[in-house]
Amino acid sequence: MKILVVGGGGREHALCWKLAQSPKVQKIFCAPGNPGISAIAECVNIKDSDLEALVDFAQDKGVDLVVPGPELPLVMGIADLCAERGIPVFGPRKYAAQLEGSKAFAREFMDRHGIPSAEFAAFTDLDAALKHLETVPLPTVVKADGLAAGKGVAVCETREAAQDFVRELMQDKKFGDSGACVLVEECLGGEETSILAIADGKTFTLLTPAQDHKRVWDEDKGPNTGGMGAYSPVSLVDAEMIQEISEHIIQPVVRGMEQEGCPFTGVIYAGLMITYKGPHVLEFNVRFGDPEAQAVLPLVNGDLATMLLAAARGELATVDVPPADKAAMCVVMAAGGYPGDYENGKVIYGLKNAETVEGVVVFHAGTAFNEKKEIVTSGGRVLGVTAVGDNLPAAHHRAYEAVSRIQWDGVQHRKDIGKRELDRIVK
Ligand code: AMP
Ligand code: GLY
Repeated sequence: MKILVVGGGGREHALCWKLAQSPKVQKIFCAPGNPGISAIAECVNIKDSDLEALVDFAQDKGVDLVVPGPELPLVMGIADLCAERGIPVFGPRKYAAQLEGSKAFAREFMDRHGIPSAEFAAFTDLDAALKHLETVPLPTVVKADGLAAGKGVAVCETREAAQDFVRELMQDKKFGDSGACVLVEECLGGEETSILAIADGKTFTLLTPAQDHKRVWDEDKGPNTGGMGAYSPVSLVDAEMIQEISEHIIQPVVRGMEQEGCPFTGVIYAGLMITYKGPHVLEFNVRFGDPEAQAVLPLVNGDLATMLLAAARGELATVDVPPADKAAMCVVMAAGGYPGDYENGKVIYGLKNAETVEGVVVFHAGTAFNEKKEIVTSGGRVLGVTAVGDNLPAAHHRAYEAVSRIQWDGVQHRKDIGKRELDRIVK
């Protein structure tokens, strides 16, 4: 089997790494890829938004499966283009990708199909939004409708902060058209968790629950980021809750998309708040989470390439995947200054040494080769240092041992990834 993975971050490295373990895979292309990925796949210099070039390439090379990593190509319609050309693709079509591409679409879809989520109101008129904010209970949550690279949401403690954010979105157009429509949502309390399901249009398989760490500093302080680390599984999400999430959240998405004429193939990623009234959806994504993928994919007890191809063909029921029986942790190492300004081009030391720690794999997110062929930083989130162990304490120990062996000028990482879960399971 020949596979084209689209993207070039830690998630795509984890995907290529897991796919490469399949005896059925002869060749992996990755566009654009990164230095870590180049050790296991052929990197192709095509941007993730250049759909025509990506699909032409897949056709030229006789690719058997396209696996888009990020949301952008999916929201732009890469799956529709692959389908037109008869190339199997593991990802939803444009209509279904609106679950991530438009928060208003997602909210209305959830209402149509009875999926539990926060109360909300949507606005395309600035004055109406500002007026609504005069009376909502605080704190309140303001969201840009469209894609905003994870920066389009603000949890606001005061009316002024909420109104300022609405002005930034609608008046100053901070995220362009993504803020033309704004949602104001009830603020839910509880613990967050990410549930990823692989769907084939009719059925689905759940992967192990994961928890991301969105804030940049320890104890969930500082600004939001793309995610500073993740672990899986999450004991808070026990067997009973998994059943509830399957029945009341994932199944209704699969059934709802089928009813609306666009069966969902790909990853249904439900960002959940586990409230005292049970799990509620904060957002849907239509692709693997990053860094969640880096913790969840190493735990998949089966052949990922077979699973994804079967899903793309609507035949997931033919694949038997034994449940995961280990735990994983991914610690993101980031450039100093991230998520604000940071410098690229810092030489990274200790990568090989880190990978000699048992159970460890270092996924590359923002790296590049310099002219001396050294691996240097090239992005905010630089590495995802991931460890698998028999349980979370073991994975935690291995991951941080590996992290301690890696250095560059200005490196930062959180020291408390998985702490909530470690406290929970040690008690
Ligand atoms: P989203 O991109 O919609 O997941 O929002 C980003 C982050 O904002 C989430 O991970 C939560 O921490 C927070 N958030 C979003 N919606 C809500 C909500 N309704 N109540 C509380 N926190 C929220
Ligand atoms: N880790 C959050 C995301 O992938 O959207």
